[in-house]
Amino acid sequence: MNIKAFKTIVLAATAFGTTAYAVGATKTIELPADGVQLKASPLPGYAKAQANCVACHSAEYMKYQPPTAARPYWEAMVKRMKVVFKAPIADDDMPAIVDYLVKTYGNEQPK
Ligand code: HEC
Repeated sequence: MNIKAFKTIVLAATAFGTTAYAVGATKTIELPADGVQLKASPLPGYAKAQANCVACHSAEYMKYQPPTAARPYWEAMVKRMKVVFKAPIADDDMPAIVDYLVKTYGNEQPK
């Protein structure tokens, strides 16, 4: 290949790259809908749930649990995440997380 041909190829590649970049720049980033975030709460378990419960899946999973679910149901759920799926949840954090879940998604929600 002579030098002139090489330069032409480089210029063409640069021009193409610039075009591709311009097209890419018009893309928008879609953030997940608010519905899949954990519901905000002043309860201490809220931050713990954020740290422990949404690493593997979105908060959508909590949303689709029955609102009639009582405390033992949520206890079993959190334990299952830890034992079956190896979620690294500290035992000390579990009561606060369960408390947050049952009062936010379960049968202890404020009426
Ligand atoms: C290590 C990964 C991991 C972490 C961390 C985790 N989960 Fe899960 N969770 C899973 C997997 C995997 C499933 C899917 C099970 C299935 O599809 O059957 C699941 C499913 C669920 C479901 C759906 C209902 C069900 O029985 O499948 C709920 C509710 C849930 N998780 C709540 C939680 C809560 C609350 C926490 C925090 C205490 C948590 N998860 C942390 C892995 C995790």
